[in-house]
Amino acid sequence: MTDSVVAIAVRRQTRASETGRCAVLYPAIAEAARRVGANAVGLIDVGCSAGLNLNADRVGITYSNGQSLGDPSSAVQLSSSLVGDRPIPARAMPEVAARAGVDLDPADVTGADDARWLRACLWPDQPERAARLEAEMALAATAPALLLQGDAVEVVPGAFARVPADALPVVTTTWALPHFPLQSRLRFLHRLGEAAASRAVAWVSAEGAGVAPAIPALGDRRASGHSIIGLAAVSGRPALRAEAIGRCWSQGRLLAWLADS
Ligand SMILES: C[S@@+](CC[C@H](N)C(=O)[O-])C[C@H]1O[C@@H](n2cnc3c(N)ncnc32)[C@H](O)[C@@H]1O
Repeated sequence: MTDSVVAIAVRRQTRASETGRCAVLYPAIAEAARRVGANAVGLIDVGCSAGLNLNADRVGITYSNGQSLGDPSSAVQLSSSLVGDRPIPARAMPEVAARAGVDLDPADVTGADDARWLRACLWPDQPERAARLEAEMALAATAPALLLQGDAVEVVPGAFARVPADALPVVTTTWALPHFPLQSRLRFLHRLGEAAASRAVAWVSAEGAGVAPAIPALGDRRASGHSIIGLAAVSGRPALRAEAIGRCWSQGRLLAWLADS
């Protein structure tokens, strides 16, 4: 089967969609909504791969200090170890009024080929990750999110338009921006600023130190093995005001919350 394996491998990008990203996203999105005073959010995940981040409110998360967030009855249960003494905010995420993923090549969990590829990208000796991916894909398939294909710089304005006027659009990026040339990252940021000129907008990022433009790197060196959790929430101002609200390791398996909340 060498020829067919090679044909698939050169066409597809490896995907590591499964893991604890929602352990980071859930409290950060809830915090963004609190700062803007929003009672509903519309999630726009950029570089979404299979769009599993769009279910942040539908999973259950337990933190090592005993805190829990999300849905305790969900089939997807995540855990995350807290680093440092500061607890994460206990606030629940508001209602999610819209979910849209943006990717050059989104993976559709309801399609057999894409689902098989997502499974193939996991290490075969980690059955617990495989089981969680199955649960996450099944959850996503119960209410498939809108997946918009294309370059984020071009597609994001259309994604904002899908979010009802009374909901806060929250753009999320997790380990996506290093795949954008620097110029595209800046143009992406510009798109957020443009949207924020006419409505409140938030951006939650989990990216390597110094990767997300405008998010402070806290003096951390690039490629230092952890990532910065960024939050930019704007209401009625033309420019995004960005801050670093935490650090995380291993895509959310460890998390240090830094922000006052
Ligand atoms: C490493 S994956 C990250 C996926 C996911 N966010 C995660 O946390 O694992 C990067 C994703 O960004 C997408 N991507 C790269 N450049 C892009 C662009 N200009 N516009 C939209 N998506 C892009 C790729 O197709 C890929 O799915």
